[in-house]
Amino acid sequence: MTVLFYTTFTDKKIWIKEIKKQFKNIKIITIREKKYFNKVEFAIVWDLPDKILKQLSNLKIIFSQGAGVDHILNLPSYNNTPIVRLQDPIMAERMANYVLSQILNYQLHLSKYLKSQQKKIWLDDLETLTPIDNHKLTIGILGVGFLGNYVAKFLKKINYNVIGFKKNKTLKKFNYKIYTGYNINKFIYSSDIIVSILPSTKYTINFINKNFLSKMKKNSLLINVGRGVTINEKDLINHLNKNKNFFASLDVFNKEPLNTSSKLWSHPNVTITPHIASITVVKSAIAQMYSRYIQYKKTGKIKSDVNLNNGY
Ligand code: GLV
Repeated sequence: MTVLFYTTFTDKKIWIKEIKKQFKNIKIITIREKKYFNKVEFAIVWDLPDKILKQLSNLKIIFSQGAGVDHILNLPSYNNTPIVRLQDPIMAERMANYVLSQILNYQLHLSKYLKSQQKKIWLDDLETLTPIDNHKLTIGILGVGFLGNYVAKFLKKINYNVIGFKKNKTLKKFNYKIYTGYNINKFIYSSDIIVSILPSTKYTINFINKNFLSKMKKNSLLINVGRGVTINEKDLINHLNKNKNFFASLDVFNKEPLNTSSKLWSHPNVTITPHIASITVVKSAIAQMYSRYIQYKKTGKIKSDVNLNNGY
């Protein structure tokens, strides 16, 4: 039994230590140990190069180090090996905290105060800077899967109006209004703030484009904590330039790290963070992987967490 570990995460050493601790007595290899490639049954990965995947002829399960699985599905050699993805309530809480921080930053005009502090200006303009109350703001959650639904419920608890959008009709019960399919326009028109938690699939690339943005309110905030490719960044920059009360908080980008030449970096209405909205919780992630591994050992079966038709 051999496990391959490959990651581009910067906390790699912490991962190795924890994998060794939880996957006791199991051989853990890195991509340098080529001679064991044909023994690898499990791979714990983030951004595994395709040329490595190609060589893992005995692979039974791929564990994603994050909630997203696009880094696996996009590999040309990926051939339906079952994928275990993370569904971690602590990651969901991290994401909800991040989203709330960006909503509050916008709602309470915090960046304006920060800028005026830097200039030692006492900015007490109550006419324009009095915050809008939570119950008067409708937050539209674009993508209400495991993470999106958690964020929606979290925001609803603190009095925001919450609505959600889902591509397909569903029997699942939500305790907030859900728009589906062609009702996307109603969803956009009704939202004061839109939080995108869309995965990267063939349906979501450039989903937030010129047309989408033109339907959003002029005084509004767009938060993206899903995947960068779901936004057409050129269209977003144009939209920001034309609408001085339109803001964006972006944690994910078309290309990461964001190129220093991107106009987004210096736009006064844009907040940028480096893909940290929902950092994986190492210990619980590996515990989830280990329990799925044990289940597989007992039953010889594993059900993939990914629906290939949906692409996530
Ligand atoms: C982060 O983007 C993740 O997929 O967990």
